Amino acid sequence: MTRTTESITPELYAYLVAQGEPVDAVLTDLAEETARLFPDRKGMQIGPEQGTFTTLLTRISGARDAVEIGTFTGYSSLCIARGLPEDGRLLALDISEEWTSVARRYWERAGVADRITLELGPALDSLRALPQEPQFDLAFVDADKEGYVSYWEELVPRMRPGGVLLADNTLSHGRVVKESETSPAVQGIRDFNAHLLGDDRVTQVLLPIGDGLTLALKN
Ligand SMILES: C[S@@+](CC[C@H](N)C(=O)[O-])C[C@H]1O[C@@H](n2cnc3c(N)ncnc32)[C@H](O)[C@@H]1O
Repeated sequence: MTRTTESITPELYAYLVAQGEPVDAVLTDLAEETARLFPDRKGMQIGPEQGTFTTLLTRISGARDAVEIGTFTGYSSLCIARGLPEDGRLLALDISEEWTSVARRYWERAGVADRITLELGPALDSLRALPQEPQFDLAFVDADKEGYVSYWEELVPRMRPGGVLLADNTLSHGRVVKESETSPAVQGIRDFNAHLLGDDRVTQVLLPIGDGLTLALKN
């Protein structure tokens, strides 16, 4: 019988989260404040186990220079920043002043604000304005799904060999395999996943973490 990943029930998910490193007060408060201020948007934030995974991966990879596309209220950026060394740098890209103003407060509270530069504006413009040379050790993509392929094409040449790329929501809540789902966001993810299959600059795996997390290594 072929092995598959276990289906995660809400009960099993709660157990899984409870077995990980406990989430500290800063991240707990950030998740709670996000849910209070933006109840319709709280699902955009990565979950606690993905946050810990991101911090660990940042540390394991030895990343010093990181970039995030899609910051929202700062949960994932805080997790990346915590995995960086003290002289590490994270460039955080987003279009929303309102959402990222929450992020700024929590970066201060967590003592990592000096590692993070926030740039507001369309992320594609921000990426294209960067020098076209390898400069990042880690990238996290979590913005508009229609833009993933374009972000990827700007990112890969700017990654150092051995650099780590992460892309969130690559299962689209299961909609990637439903033919009736034709929204631009779902199609954007399908296009992205197919794009990576033909990309021999990287080696990648799609992990069943959160809503699907693609992990790739720049060869
Ligand atoms: C799913 S949320 C990011 C969640 C965040 N990574 C976290 O874990 O809390 C997506 C973010 O992408 C931003 N975004 C959407 N389109 C964008 C664009 N064209 N350029 C930059 N940011 C964009 C939104 O403002 C939003 O904050």
